[in-house]
Amino acid sequence: MALLEVNNLNVYYPIRGGILGGIQGYVKAVDGVSFRIEEGETMGLVGESGSGKSTTGKAIIGLAKITGGQILFNKEDITEYIGKNHSPYRKSVQMIFQDSYSSLNPKKRVLDIIAEPLRNFEKLTNAEERKRVDELLDIVGLTPDTAVKYPHEFSGGQRQRIGIARAMALNPRLIIADEPVSALDLSVQAQVLNFMKDIQKRFKLTYLFISHDLGVVEHMCSTIAIMHKGRFVEAGKKENIYRDPKHIYTKRLIAAIPDINPRRREETQVFRDKIAEEYIQKYNEYYNANDQVYDLKKISDNHYVALP
Ligand SMILES: Nc1ncnc2c1ncn2[C@@H]1O[C@H](COP(=O)(O)OP(=O)(O)OP(=O)(O)O)[C@@H](O)[C@H]1O
Ligand SMILES: [Mg+2]
Repeated sequence: MALLEVNNLNVYYPIRGGILGGIQGYVKAVDGVSFRIEEGETMGLVGESGSGKSTTGKAIIGLAKITGGQILFNKEDITEYIGKNHSPYRKSVQMIFQDSYSSLNPKKRVLDIIAEPLRNFEKLTNAEERKRVDELLDIVGLTPDTAVKYPHEFSGGQRQRIGIARAMALNPRLIIADEPVSALDLSVQAQVLNFMKDIQKRFKLTYLFISHDLGVVEHMCSTIAIMHKGRFVEAGKKENIYRDPKHIYTKRLIAAIPDINPRRREETQVFRDKIAEEYIQKYNEYYNANDQVYDLKKISDNHYVALP
């Protein structure tokens, strides 16, 4: 069953200017995006900087105002409740961010950081709260003495675990992870990603996993959507996207994945140059006269491409 269904989502930001600061136009950060995520699955959202990935995530959790479209959670249309503070939906959906430094208040102890959502949504006694915080620390692999420390006393990977503990406090069903490991060293990235997979199984979590790194997405996701200019250029099962990319933008992203095998590096570079050339020559076949991405068309089961 689809836990989350997004239909024709638009998020437009007004561009103001002129002497009176009137609205001169709109940035279409998200422009007609539709997708669904099955319960327990991970969908990856990939694309270059500015393609609208974070805005999509923020719209789903109420941090960006929705201009148009509809969001269903557990089959229920919750579009108009998203911004409302105490709806049950606000407990069921949580977000974790790339930069755990700025998303964790540096002046607060870990205890207060993790307990914040509990204090907002649940009336627990001090003892109950402390018990729950210890449980959450245990889930993310940190010891109870962590609770009295401050964010700067931790490594980046540990801080990301604290962010995850906070996100888990209210037993969410969907977690939107916006570049959760992009700021971490490679070895620490792998630890955090594997840990996210473990808790996914244990708690039957559904993830919307946002990243510009196709390698990370391949490791984490079963379905993938590639975003460009606020729209999806290609979407489907991971295997279809990686083995048989159809849109020139997807091909270019995949060609840019670093090859760890040094013997293949030269070959990879030749391939990359070929795709770069094709991107320039065939660009007009993939974008309309207004330089916009076409609507998605189904080309096979679990594979959609934006073509004329
Ligand atoms: N609050 C805002 N006001 C105006 N424009 C915004 C706002 N937030 C985002 N935008 C614009 O919307 C577009 C999409 O931004 P978004 O942050 O969603 O991209 P992204 O894919 O997450 O990029 P990155 O990989 O750099 O995080 C960009 O052109 C951005 O400048
Ligand atoms: Mg972003």
